[in-house]
Amino acid sequence: MKAILVNRDYSLTIEEAETPVPGLNEILIKVQCAGVNRADLMQRRGFYPPPAGASTILGLECSGIVESVGGNCERYQRGDKVCALLPGGGYAEYVSVDEGSVLPMPAEFSFEQAASIPEVFATAWLNLFDEGGLKKHNTVLIHAGASGVGTAAIQLCRAYDSRTCVTVGSQLKLKKCIELGAVDGAVRNAADFWDRVGSFPIRSGYDVILDSVGGAYLEANLSLLNPEGRLIIIGLMSGSKANVNLSEVLTKRIKIIGSTLRNRSLLEKASLMKTLEKEVWPKFVSGDVLPVVEAIYLFSEAEKAHELMASNNTTGKIILSKTT
Ligand SMILES: NC(=O)c1ccc[n+]([C@@H]2O[C@H](COP(=O)([O-])OP(=O)(O)OC[C@H]3O[C@@H](n4cnc5c(N)ncnc54)[C@H](OP(=O)(O)O)[C@@H]3O)[C@@H](O)[C@H]2O)c1
Repeated sequence: MKAILVNRDYSLTIEEAETPVPGLNEILIKVQCAGVNRADLMQRRGFYPPPAGASTILGLECSGIVESVGGNCERYQRGDKVCALLPGGGYAEYVSVDEGSVLPMPAEFSFEQAASIPEVFATAWLNLFDEGGLKKHNTVLIHAGASGVGTAAIQLCRAYDSRTCVTVGSQLKLKKCIELGAVDGAVRNAADFWDRVGSFPIRSGYDVILDSVGGAYLEANLSLLNPEGRLIIIGLMSGSKANVNLSEVLTKRIKIIGSTLRNRSLLEKASLMKTLEKEVWPKFVSGDVLPVVEAIYLFSEAEKAHELMASNNTTGKIILSKTT
């Protein structure tokens, strides 16, 4: 099969690779589209290796058509249109993945839309609800609100009656986040950034903070959280080091939770996908929640797609497609 491989100089090229053979519990998918994620940029540079046993090819999510199924699989058959959460391997003609990580494409969705779902909606759900214990009428701060994960998280919060503020890199992104359901937000290079974050319409502080920025935001995050607040750290875009006064963690009984999706067990991922199908799939079909697609590139243009993501000038997802 053809796949996008990373060369020694970190450039990307389409090369021949071995077609995966599905295990007993796996589905072999003929990939139509793959979502691009920030993690792909890191893996490409050697900073985010795939978990043991996973494909070394980039790509954490895809949509496509079932090509064949392993002997123990019951749900899918050849020809079904599906999307899947992957530990790797999406930037290829074929990928094989545990049946529990696969879901049928939502009705009427294009392959591009379907490939925009698995990684960011699974991440948003896992961290807001399972890790963050989000409840109705909670207040939520989402850093990098216009990211793929952020645009999914804003919509889930809106759909489940929580009020959200965001931090973003531009006024245009803020406008888009508000259209998706955020109450307000702040632009991160503005001089009064943290003052604004602390004085949004949500003056009561935050119950949950979804943070992909890490070290530079830790101290402010702790002071913005309400008593019993939950800080869910899902990324370290500003770095991993911080020097903070822990007294607020103690006195406000704050929970600081670190969370990664990719290295969780197949059982955990299957359970998460089942929850997404039950809770979020109906909202996709009704249009209450929709993946946000910023740009679609051919697989042969993966380099350009990565450049666009690295520019930080995106709201939502970038997709690689076999056709445009
Ligand atoms: N833990 C997990 O399981 C998991 C799973 C998926 C994703 N993630 C993490 O979630 C984050 C978003 O991923 P994504 O694929 O959705 O990314 P994305 O769409 O590429 O968005 C990332 C955005 O983050 C902002 N940003 C970049 N560098 C920053 C910095 N130094 N400080 C503050 N903001 C910065 C930029 O937006 P603005 O310019 O608008 O701020 C950028 O557009 C990443 O950190 C990723 O690693 C974690």
